[in-house]
Amino acid sequence: LSLGVLASGNGSNFEAIMTAIERSALKAQVNVVICNNPGAKVMERAERWQIPRVLLNHREFTSREALDQAIIRTLNQHDVTWVAMAGWMRRVTQQLIDAFPDRVLNIHPSLLPSFPGLHAVQQALDAGVTLAGCTVHHVELAVDSGPIIMQAAVPVLAGDTVEQLQARIQVQEHHIYPAAIALAAHGDSRKNAVADLAGEPLC
Ligand code: GRF
Repeated sequence: LSLGVLASGNGSNFEAIMTAIERSALKAQVNVVICNNPGAKVMERAERWQIPRVLLNHREFTSREALDQAIIRTLNQHDVTWVAMAGWMRRVTQQLIDAFPDRVLNIHPSLLPSFPGLHAVQQALDAGVTLAGCTVHHVELAVDSGPIIMQAAVPVLAGDTVEQLQARIQVQEHHIYPAAIALAAHGDSRKNAVADLAGEPLC
């Protein structure tokens, strides 16, 4: 299982994936991290883990298709078999999805299908839900849609700020993303995949 990670920002989910691999909780390797934002923290993290890094600045491409062609080329050059979008803030094209059929995954900070798109945590607070969470799903063309692989729920507590709720959700993201990759790629039973990873926070 050779992963390519697409990330735009902080990269804490990338870090969680690396930690799970290091602990042999996820039998995989990350062959390349692709980032669209110069200076994103995920690039520093990738350097620390000595993972090849490729910056594909979307501002230097004329279209989504052109960017995705470059992404596909880069993934192929690094012999990637599965793609994990981890805080990837660009809409993807059908070309990318078709290049890795059923092998492009995403994580989103809501219990999909509620609150797709930007500011999902704010959307949840605005709606007044008492349960929030995160979802790992197969990627389809519509933003934050596609078959769900794994979810985790967290309570919304009285007076929660976006930052507080986001932090509670992220703890769960870091558990379920490696587990969901294992489930999708290796067909691990959900119970075992979660049990392997549920012991302690991964990062
Ligand atoms: C996560 O909340 C993820 O659900 C969303 O973007 C955020 C990325 O966080 N898609 P990080 O960059 O992995 O820390």
